[in-house]
Amino acid sequence: MNQQSTVSVETIRQAVVEAGSSLYRDGIRPVADFPAKPDGLFLQQKSGEYSEFVHFMASMGRTFKLGLDIGVASGGQTKFLRDWCPIERTIVADLGVQHEFPHWSRIKKTVRSKIELELIGDSHSRRTYDALQPYKGQIDFSFIDGDHSYGGVMRDIMLAHELFEPDAIMVLHDTIVVPDVARAYEEIKAHPDFEVLWHSKGEFGITVFRVLRPARPVPYWRHWLAYGVGPKTLWKTLKKPFKRKKKKSA
Ligand SMILES: C[S@@+](CC[C@H](N)C(=O)[O-])C[C@H]1O[C@@H](n2cnc3c(N)ncnc32)[C@H](O)[C@@H]1O
Repeated sequence: MNQQSTVSVETIRQAVVEAGSSLYRDGIRPVADFPAKPDGLFLQQKSGEYSEFVHFMASMGRTFKLGLDIGVASGGQTKFLRDWCPIERTIVADLGVQHEFPHWSRIKKTVRSKIELELIGDSHSRRTYDALQPYKGQIDFSFIDGDHSYGGVMRDIMLAHELFEPDAIMVLHDTIVVPDVARAYEEIKAHPDFEVLWHSKGEFGITVFRVLRPARPVPYWRHWLAYGVGPKTLWKTLKKPFKRKKKKSA
């Protein structure tokens, strides 16, 4: 066990509150049960659930070599976790369009991990897929909190599944509160390559999986059919970017 594991959940919870919550797009209401701070981390987390998760990770006593965070927003979560659970090198992937994303340029300087790669763009793109191929078999930690549609989260899981080393840890966020992610969670829970190690009792839903076996790599186009994603879900996912463009020009 490492030193951090002796720290109580309450100590971590106080540090979460100290770090500061995120704000909704209105810039006034905090996302979670603690206030935002001007120079804070803008965490999109509930204080109780998240501190229990960080405590669980710290208690594992592992030093991870290479983490992949998909969907970082401000990057506050990427920073906070690494303060308590050592992850030597980090790759982040994010669209870079969320209102909290501008904080990343400040926060990334404080992350206790070498930022190996910043992939700003769609995590489902060919560009992201290609950029990650050299890391195949090296990723031993991944926090997935990007696209929250069923097809989107399944594709992110598939992307990471092919890059993992055996015994890696994969975390899914919003496994309770977002129905599409809850559906993905149920399917991954039943998948023979994953084992649930920890699942939060409520709030947003954070689930920690152990990766028993990395996936056999498949060509990029097969990711469009991630696991059981059927034609209906695929069509919804494909339509999304067009919808987004339409809104912008209105
Ligand atoms: C809920 S926020 C992440 C919050 C962060 N993990 C935290 O705990 O503070 C979701 C993030 O995922 C990003 N995202 C959504 N779809 C994405 C995609 N297809 N590729 C990359 N990033 C995506 C958004 O831009 C946003 O920054």
